[in-house]
Amino acid sequence: GLPDHVTIYEVGARDGLQNEAAVVPVEVKAEFLHRLAAAGLPVLEATSFVHPKWVPQLADAADLLNRLVRAEGVDYPVLVPNERGLDRALEAGVSHVAIFGSATETFAKRNLNRTLDEQFAMFAPVVQRALSAGLRVRGYVSMCFGDPWEGAVAPEQVASVARRLVEMGCHQLSLGDTIGTGTPGHVDAVLDACVAAGVPVRQLAVHFHDTYGQALANTLTALRRGVRTVDASAGGLGGCPYAESATGNLATEDLVWMLDGLGIGHGVDLDALVGTSVWMAEQLGRPSPSRVVRALTGG
Ligand code: HMG
Ligand code: MG
Repeated sequence: GLPDHVTIYEVGARDGLQNEAAVVPVEVKAEFLHRLAAAGLPVLEATSFVHPKWVPQLADAADLLNRLVRAEGVDYPVLVPNERGLDRALEAGVSHVAIFGSATETFAKRNLNRTLDEQFAMFAPVVQRALSAGLRVRGYVSMCFGDPWEGAVAPEQVASVARRLVEMGCHQLSLGDTIGTGTPGHVDAVLDACVAAGVPVRQLAVHFHDTYGQALANTLTALRRGVRTVDASAGGLGGCPYAESATGNLATEDLVWMLDGLGIGHGVDLDALVGTSVWMAEQLGRPSPSRVVRALTGG
């Protein structure tokens, strides 16, 4: 059945802005996060401590966290791929980190410069040290549905990567449809494989990119299966610079509209959120691709 409440994990400031052609000024990023917190979002993925040459858009991670006025009760996770990233994140005073693994060999190489197996060796000390420092740890699995180089990805392969990250100690795992090719039947198959591999559904989150317009249908499928955390980005910002054909994430506004219709609680003020996305679209110089933002603003 469907839940009474869903936790929205907002990725706009990270997944959204990492893919912008122009570098967004750090003050604008801070203001974006302040506005998202004021709109009631409980979790704001703020930035990434990755190599600044790999993702120049987020090279200001330390500066951003330094400027950020953290709202009471809001969680600000950051991406860290390796120990160097963890060191930088700890220095910035974070309490929640996310490692990001790949379900496919090609994307592990392109996104992390590691083989599929080598990625685990890179993550293990990060997770271990983060846990002993008392941090929360999320693990992403990318390319859980389709991969631009390898095509359809076997659900068992996804489940095996997911299981290794849970065994490593990740509190939560986010299953990423990085390029947005997944459809509801495929979501069921991936969740079946994860459960069969011993990954508890309550530890799973879903992360859908909306490239093919399937993100909401996929989300509803996951909610019916017991998933209670959904990743989304304000205004539908997003993509991945190392994945061809990845466009924005499921728009947070589109998700909120569906949850409202289903009577599922989320704690977000839709008007304030839409106002934030309209403001951000002005900063970026182009309209939000979110259907709900457009419908509510006559766009
Ligand atoms: P590498 O070149 O193999 O790095 O990159 P290395 O370990 O060989 O180190 C080389 C140099 O980089 C060293 O410096 C390190 O100190 C430095 P040197 O000793 O030569 O002077 N270095 C760093 N500096 C700052 N911060 C760091 C860092 N690490 C090493 N963290 C690496 C490996 C993982 C660093 C690189 O591949 C990388 O940064 N990749 C990140 C790519 C990325 O951010 N992609 C987007 C996020 S994933 C995504 O969007 C998908 C998701 O949304 C889910 C979905 O949609 O599916 C999460
Ligand atoms: Mg993503």
